[in-house]
Amino acid sequence: MKLLVTGGAGYIGSVVSDQLCTAGHEVVVLDDLSTGHRDAVPAGARLVEGTLRDLAFEVLDGAGFDAVLHFAARSLVGESVERPGLYWDKNLGESLALLDAMRRAGVSRIVFSSTAATYGEPESAPILETDPTRPTNPYGASKLAIDTALTEYARLHGIGGVSLRYFNVAGARGRFGERHATETHLIPIVLQVATGARDKVFMHGDDYPTPDGTCVRDYIHVVDLGVAHLLALESCRPGVHKIFNLGNGAGFSVREVIEVCRQVTGHPIPAEVGPRRAGDPAVLVASSDRIRSELGWKPERDLRAMVADAWAFARHGLAS
Ligand SMILES: NC(=O)c1ccc[n+]([C@@H]2O[C@H](COP(=O)([O-])OP(=O)(O)OC[C@H]3O[C@@H](n4cnc5c(N)ncnc54)[C@H](O)[C@@H]3O)[C@@H](O)[C@H]2O)c1
Repeated sequence: MKLLVTGGAGYIGSVVSDQLCTAGHEVVVLDDLSTGHRDAVPAGARLVEGTLRDLAFEVLDGAGFDAVLHFAARSLVGESVERPGLYWDKNLGESLALLDAMRRAGVSRIVFSSTAATYGEPESAPILETDPTRPTNPYGASKLAIDTALTEYARLHGIGGVSLRYFNVAGARGRFGERHATETHLIPIVLQVATGARDKVFMHGDDYPTPDGTCVRDYIHVVDLGVAHLLALESCRPGVHKIFNLGNGAGFSVREVIEVCRQVTGHPIPAEVGPRRAGDPAVLVASSDRIRSELGWKPERDLRAMVADAWAFARHGLAS
């Protein structure tokens, strides 16, 4: 297939682009390099540098694309609270430009990176796709608005769309991994202690109603995520928008993650307990039953594999 990957110079987009190239697909990456890296685009893919708003139609029109994988977004929760307008513009506005370009160019299939942040603070665990969506920040709200737009584009313009709602993505594939200038994800932050880039790690609260008192989160290996994208792409049907949660079905506490990082790196990784952060739910875990039963997807890589691959990448830019 000929595929447009938006955000293919970023963490997840680069890994999935590499998987797509390996699977024999023709890949064009559209990325403005706002948070991505030119050298993260796999050799087999072509990079078009620019925004979706400026270039999506130009790239798609008359070029015989079969589908779009849409990763491009701003995704820092704190930044979204400080600059909500940026998130509505960059996430919703640019996604609408992409959808409109697809409609005009006659490209009818899209797989979209949605997020657990669309659910907000869940009433129960594990989170189902049918649970209420009450995002607590502009990042999650902008992603939910894109999901809603996809439903409308499916109903009114015959687009076939799949939204994949991720929780915490981790790990690496070969030379492709997580290189965020502002890192907010637990595993790379903990590994920064092992590389010497940080002195210690903070656990935000240890008095939550969880087995060891620290927050429990769902983690998924970026390679398993890529496999889900390929299955989602194959499942796109005209006029239908589907939403799937992607998680491991089981969570890990902050303490457990730090302990696995200690085992993998052999570093003592000093950790301190600090105060709770406002708005941090005790447990965020996804049910993956829907994607398991409808698309036959299941995560294959455990927390240890995620940490080991992220660690190999952190040290050498290489993962198994
Ligand atoms: N990393 C996670 O744990 C996680 C969890 C849930 C959802 N997601 C979603 O997955 C997607 C990828 O996340 P990531 O961690 O790889 O982020 P990332 O920041 O590494 O990658 C995003 C890429 O999109 C590009 N980009 C941003 N806005 C653009 C625009 N308007 N036009 C063109 N390019 C643009 C950036 O330059 C970057 O290369 C995002 O949509 C994010 O919201 C990520």
